[in-house]
Amino acid sequence: MSLLPEALSFFQQRVYHQIPLLLPKVHTEPFQLNRALHYVCEQPGKAIRPFLVYATGQLFDLPYETLDSIAIAIELIHLYSLVHDDLPSMDNDSLRRGRPTCHKAFSESTAILVGDGLHTLAFQILSDPKYSHFSAELRLMIIQVLAKAAGVQGMIKGQALDIENINRPLTESELKTMHLGKTGALIEACVHSAALISLAEKDPVLGTLRHYARLIGLAFQIQDDILDATATTESLGKKTNKDALNNKPNFVTLLGLTLAQQKAKACIDEALTCLDAFDPKRAELLVALTHYIIKRAS
Ligand code: IPE
Ligand code: IPE
Ligand code: MG
Ligand code: MG
Ligand code: MG
Repeated sequence: MSLLPEALSFFQQRVYHQIPLLLPKVHTEPFQLNRALHYVCEQPGKAIRPFLVYATGQLFDLPYETLDSIAIAIELIHLYSLVHDDLPSMDNDSLRRGRPTCHKAFSESTAILVGDGLHTLAFQILSDPKYSHFSAELRLMIIQVLAKAAGVQGMIKGQALDIENINRPLTESELKTMHLGKTGALIEACVHSAALISLAEKDPVLGTLRHYARLIGLAFQIQDDILDATATTESLGKKTNKDALNNKPNFVTLLGLTLAQQKAKACIDEALTCLDAFDPKRAELLVALTHYIIKRAS
């Protein structure tokens, strides 16, 4: 567990150092858009998705350079999803990573364009052999994994369920489907895409790893629900208690805090068993992250 803060910060810096270099220069036209792109990308998040990419790569001894474009592309998709998630017509949030949300700091139209720009930049990077140093066939497979995870069968499906189910008491299984979509799909794609460099699509080990990733993805969003109900705005850097106020179904608003904590813990316990098959030294980053998912306070 002690290696985690250092490793998280290492990968966070690795990715957040590179992202601004991929954007148009800040003092160039269109000025609002470019300032807003840099604004969103200059304040790092926890970067757990890039971490997952590099930690999965460690299972197969892959160099960080090989994984950079995947880690960056996924963080770009995540950044876009946050900008759009905060929009007035979505969650209508005013605070993100301790600062005004993009549409508050700039404008709603700029925030929509920033999201669109980051989303497409992700695929530009992944498809470019200058950044993605693997075979064209593998690039195509990874692009497909990410497009599917981010799209209407994955994150967008989950986000749509989140919006369409306001005021509706969902069953636990419906909640699970929503969470696996809005948050689990991209988290699964981190592990899936990195593992594809070393494993064939049909390899049962890939199946185990994807199952592992779905479990931690679900636990991650349950913990997000728990923190929304229990943490402070200062510690999270985003407004809290939003889901209850907005009548959003989530694991805490529907099942209560204790049951939500038990469900998250059960996912993490099962996820850890999926890692038993791997060499402990090579799996140490993934194991540490797995524990952190429900221990994190922000
Ligand atoms: C927040 O994600 C949105 C969810 C999918 C729960 P993170 O908690 O990873 O946010 P950052 O990137 O650290 O800000
Ligand atoms: C966000 O879920 C999921 C995505 C951005 C895809 P939430 O709406 O719960 O995330 P926060 O709490 O605003 O970070
Ligand atoms: Mg939301
Ligand atoms: Mg939100
Ligand atoms: Mg939330």
